[in-house]
Amino acid sequence: MSNESTRVTQSGRYSPLRYPGGKGKVARFMCEVIRLNGLSDGLYVEPYAGGAAVAWELLITGVVRRVAINDVSRPVYAFWMSVLHRTEELCKAIDSIPLTVDEWDRQREIFLDHTGADEFKLGLAFFFLNRTNRSGILNAGVIGGRNQTGKWKIDARFNKGDLISRIKKIAALRSRVELTGMDAQEFFAEKAGNWNPNTLVYIDPPYYEKGRYLYYDAYAPEDHKSIAESVFRLTHVSWVVSYDDVRPIHDLYSDTSWLQYTLNYSARNASRGKEAMFFSDGLKVPSLPLPLLETARCINAKPLSGGNRVVV
Ligand SMILES: C[S@@+](CC[C@H](N)C(=O)[O-])C[C@H]1O[C@@H](n2cnc3c(N)ncnc32)[C@H](O)[C@@H]1O
Repeated sequence: MSNESTRVTQSGRYSPLRYPGGKGKVARFMCEVIRLNGLSDGLYVEPYAGGAAVAWELLITGVVRRVAINDVSRPVYAFWMSVLHRTEELCKAIDSIPLTVDEWDRQREIFLDHTGADEFKLGLAFFFLNRTNRSGILNAGVIGGRNQTGKWKIDARFNKGDLISRIKKIAALRSRVELTGMDAQEFFAEKAGNWNPNTLVYIDPPYYEKGRYLYYDAYAPEDHKSIAESVFRLTHVSWVVSYDDVRPIHDLYSDTSWLQYTLNYSARNASRGKEAMFFSDGLKVPSLPLPLLETARCINAKPLSGGNRVVV
């Protein structure tokens, strides 16, 4: 069975981007976190936005009033810039782009010339590859193969009408969006001082183990450590961190509340790894909604007693 058939929902309902490990499914949970903690009137921030699936869902459904999204990747930033500020031009380009392997080659060349390419063209090339590559992974090949002999073809994930409508929905709310393209550490250093206590920051860094394979901008172990240090300095706002569920990350966040979960997929996908979330002190943590299946939680980890550990 092709990957394409099993990844249908990874972009969530509102993001036009497909993201490996995309967080569309986390949106309902984050919505509950916001309601339970009275943060609806505040700012929702994603320092590692990628497809920003959660941010768009919260904004479009009116759960939050303002979002700030940041991503260091120039192609990702370029794409969101075009969505927000060159909407018509981008939608026209998407509408007229041929879905062929020749075009894939052309867009790939533009994409690989990260530094030289014009911002609009780079954003479009990134989007094109995101929608036409296997599983949305940028260094994977084209869906269906170069000879287009696979069951799924290059256009399998490129429904132009639907994608254009997603882009327009987001663009209509541009006055409520702040977009930046900084390194997350710089972003914290420059922006966090302006966030008020009503702010929820959702930190979804590249995975500890799979990051190198999935993303161009992956982290080394010491980067994860220094990000954790920055996160712990965010004492005046609420935050949630998500990761692959691995020992070194639990060690970094050992004093915080956490929960482990898995995606409740069919047996065919049972090999998918578990993930973990960590929470700022005092944040009320709701249950995870299906298809996220909570496997263990430890809330209020801080007290020396070892906290209120519940393993399910
Ligand atoms: C796990 S993905 C985020 C997925 C996202 N939550 C979604 O819903 O699609 C990680 C993202 O972090 C970005 N990134 C990697 N290193 C970064 C850094 N140092 N600063 C900011 N963003 C970074 C990558 O470009 C990638 O888009």
